[in-house]
Amino acid sequence: MRIHDHGVNVAVLGATGQVGMVMRRVLDERDFPVRDLRFLASSRSAGTVLDWRGHGIVVEDVEKADLSDIDIAVFSAGGGTSKVWAPRFAAAGAYVVDNSSQWRMHDDVPLVVAEVNPDDLDDVPGRIVANPNCTTMACMPALKPLSDAFGLRRLIVSSYQAVSGAGRAGALQLMNEAKAALDQGADRLVFDGSAIDFPKPTKVVRTIAFNVVPFIGAIVSDGSEETDEEQKLRNESRKILHLPHLAASCTCVRVGVFTAHGMSVNAEFEKDVTPDMARAVLSTAPGVELDDIPTPQLAAGRDPSFVGRIRQDQAVEGRKGLAMFIANDNLRKGAALNAVELAEIIVRKHFADRV
Ligand SMILES: NC(=O)c1ccc[n+]([C@@H]2O[C@H](COP(=O)([O-])OP(=O)(O)OC[C@H]3O[C@@H](n4cnc5c(N)ncnc54)[C@H](OP(=O)(O)O)[C@@H]3O)[C@@H](O)[C@H]2O)c1
Repeated sequence: MRIHDHGVNVAVLGATGQVGMVMRRVLDERDFPVRDLRFLASSRSAGTVLDWRGHGIVVEDVEKADLSDIDIAVFSAGGGTSKVWAPRFAAAGAYVVDNSSQWRMHDDVPLVVAEVNPDDLDDVPGRIVANPNCTTMACMPALKPLSDAFGLRRLIVSSYQAVSGAGRAGALQLMNEAKAALDQGADRLVFDGSAIDFPKPTKVVRTIAFNVVPFIGAIVSDGSEETDEEQKLRNESRKILHLPHLAASCTCVRVGVFTAHGMSVNAEFEKDVTPDMARAVLSTAPGVELDDIPTPQLAAGRDPSFVGRIRQDQAVEGRKGLAMFIANDNLRKGAALNAVELAEIIVRKHFADRV
């Protein structure tokens, strides 16, 4: 659909999903320089009409779509879809910004957080760019300036991740289970968890309503007994921060929250750092907002990584350790917003003559 005479031609693959919906909203909010705008998904939702600034845009089935003349494609349609379609869009001439984990660790694919390592977009050899995992994303705007100032050496993170991180299916599971509990008298849970007859879990591996589930993703096959979600934080942080030997350990936990993740972070540094010194650095860090009690509810629907509860880590000798809590919207900065910010950087670096 032609929107303006000038600008770049944009395609959103996965436009009907949760991240896709936020992506459409963020493109509008940020007044992205769109010339043509196309929405794509699978045959399931092809033909659906989605509004964008008063234009009714018909969702196309990616299998039948003409891929020519797309400048930038933002993908949020899962790893399997990205594996097949990112190279095809790139071969047809588009820059692909991908939200899945499919391409993040490929050597010739930049993995970028807009405020942290935008210069990694100077050279995009395969025309594919990756958006980090939402937990990594939430931590980077805070950890990068702290690392620059004090030398990040070691990271221990426990996540409290919202069900929307598991797609629409995760949000539906929480809704159905919460409704079932309320219908049966949720107060019975106070005395006996088994007193409520919950529906069989459909996406999160255990009941998630009124529960926390310490398992996200799948156990990897390297003998570590970590999940792939837990390894993403270590591997992606190393790549984004350009710290290939960063020691990092993560426990990923799903909680009965719809949107926005929380992260408990213990960080150890080369140099001495106090909470006041950290707050001074973070108070001017792009993408960070300090808050006394940063909660997912505070972060939902908003852009920054909210950072608070900053304390000296008492388990680290001297003054080289900090403990803090970070809350961030997994659908906005954790996915759609950063993807659109990367698309904006690509426009500035590679399509400057069009805007
Ligand atoms: N949710 C998060 O917090 C989060 C954060 C960071 C990254 N991500 C990544 O973003 C992606 C989407 O997540 P989501 O939460 O938006 O999931 P979702 O709500 O389940 O939406 C999935 C989207 O992908 C489309 N899709 C699925 N299979 C497809 C296929 N074979 N061909 C074309 N389109 C297909 C769906 O289209 P139909 O309507 O046709 O089914 C839908 O638009 C995933 O890669 C996820 O890892 C998510």
